[in-house]
Amino acid sequence: MVKICCIGAGYVGGPTMAVIALKCPSIEVAVVDISVPRITAWNSDQLPIYEPGLEDVVKECRGRNLFFSTDVEKHVREADIVFVSVNTPTKTRGLGAGKAADLTYWESAARMIADVSKSDKIVVEKSTVPVKTAEAIEKILTHNSKGINFQILSNPEFLAEGTAIEDLFKPDRVLIGGRETPGGQKAIQALKDVYAQWVPEDRILTTNLWSAELSKLAANAFLAQRISSVNAMSALCEATGANVSQVAYAVGKDSRIGPKFLNASVGFGGSCFQKDILNLVYICECNGLPEVAEYWKQVIKINDYQKTRFVNRVVASMFNTVSGKKVAVLGFAFKKDTGDTRETPAIDVCKGLLGDKAKLSIYDPQVNEDQIQRDLSMNKFDWDHPLHLQPMSPTTVKQVSVVWDAYTATKDAHAVCILTEWDEFKTLDYQKIYDNMQKPAFIFDGRNVVDLEKLREIGFIVYSIGKPLDAWLKDMPLSLNCITWLEWLCSDIKYIS
Ligand code: UDX
Ligand code: UDX
Ligand code: ADP
Repeated sequence: MVKICCIGAGYVGGPTMAVIALKCPSIEVAVVDISVPRITAWNSDQLPIYEPGLEDVVKECRGRNLFFSTDVEKHVREADIVFVSVNTPTKTRGLGAGKAADLTYWESAARMIADVSKSDKIVVEKSTVPVKTAEAIEKILTHNSKGINFQILSNPEFLAEGTAIEDLFKPDRVLIGGRETPGGQKAIQALKDVYAQWVPEDRILTTNLWSAELSKLAANAFLAQRISSVNAMSALCEATGANVSQVAYAVGKDSRIGPKFLNASVGFGGSCFQKDILNLVYICECNGLPEVAEYWKQVIKINDYQKTRFVNRVVASMFNTVSGKKVAVLGFAFKKDTGDTRETPAIDVCKGLLGDKAKLSIYDPQVNEDQIQRDLSMNKFDWDHPLHLQPMSPTTVKQVSVVWDAYTATKDAHAVCILTEWDEFKTLDYQKIYDNMQKPAFIFDGRNVVDLEKLREIGFIVYSIGKPLDAWLKDMPLSLNCITWLEWLCSDIKYIS
């Protein structure tokens, strides 16, 4: 029986291993983590992450050929294939701070593998890492190997949160990079055999190590670039009276461009896009390619601009101040169908509104108060450090209350900001919401989910990203009074400029 061990029971490691266990009943899969609360949760009825379909998969395999454990060393020692799926946050200090990936967790995992191994192993990079990390890991392993043979593979994961199980069941492609030596090719074949149990052969691509590592960074950079491109267009649409949905539809009909991933929004979030682009920028700079670095930086700058623009629009529309006003925030997760808040645009938007002294009432169906308070009191880039994963007592942001339904959040509010595209926000009783709000009642839709005309008929003043502005908004142009927020944002941009 082949034994697989995955180090890191997070958003990537957990679902990926659960699906491997489901599809390969003859393989024993152990998912290990140093975080006791995480492993306890994986072994309970309340899984540590919310992902549609995940619970069913875990229930079917857990205890059969899928195990969650904190006994990291035992399971690594026994495994034939070790996946490494630990966090790789952006460095917060030292060389490359604010851009380079912090490989501390990776390095300590590699050293531990070398220490405890007693038999040959295939070590698989699963978390996104800078190009040529495999080479560094190979060095750590072979210098400490005591004669054991380690083969390194890069097998980046392309699943998106919220659709992780679907993506794992039917991936567009599985990418496996390895050494072009007989040993490397044998290792590639062994991992290919695992995926071939459910993925068609023509979707399993094999490349050299560096191509596999770079493809992951490139794919995320291209995806993020599409969003920044459509978001840049959304600003121009508002200025000209064009409708961004119509423009995106027309552009996406060109088969060379394609229709997906062209939804204008308040900005992209999530643990990957910004981190991977910063990483790419750093790698370009280190390789003497400043023009290329500059090109990719723009994707992040536009994303920051989009969040700023949204806050400015809110403040400008409401007579240039939100001080003391109740603003309801609907949605805090970085996208629908996940409880993940890493790099969610909601953090920056909420901080911007708090900077102008708004009182926020936040509702998200999957994010609890502790998480929101922690996110709003945390510094940028701290989110992916282990501190984030452990319970801790956050400094409470007093202007923020977190509630468990949209009607409580919006009661007596001056404005509603929709920051995540949860389906339930499309079918709320907006007449009831309007009746219970202060007047004039504003809705700022950062995800283009509401029916503009219907809401205007009810009496709302509505702003929707990239859509023609109504008369009120035209009369309240974006103002320089929002300079405090801009200054705050610029202090963050320092990281990348
Ligand atoms: C992404 C990649 O899609 C995935 O392949 C990779 O493995 C990890 O990073 P994820 O971050 O989980 O996945 O979600 P994704 O669906 O890509 O959304 C990222 C952000 O972009 C979200 O905030 C989402 O709301 C935003 N987005 C996405 C848009 O604003 N507009 C779009 O058209 C699509
Ligand atoms: C373009 C648009 O494709 C077309 O829809 C529009 O109506 C007019 O502009 P055209 O300039 O005639 O058409 O040719 P196109 O095939 O788009 O190529 C433009 C340039 O891009 C060429 O120099 C081509 O060699 C180059 N190119 C194209 C690349 O370098 N790489 C590619 O992958 C594709
Ligand atoms: P991702 O989104 O890439 O899956 P997460 O942050 O959700 O990232 O998960 C990474 C996991 O890796 C965390 O649960 C963390 O506790 C775990 N981890 C980090 N370093 C180690 C290590 N040396 N040994 C075991 N687990 C680790």
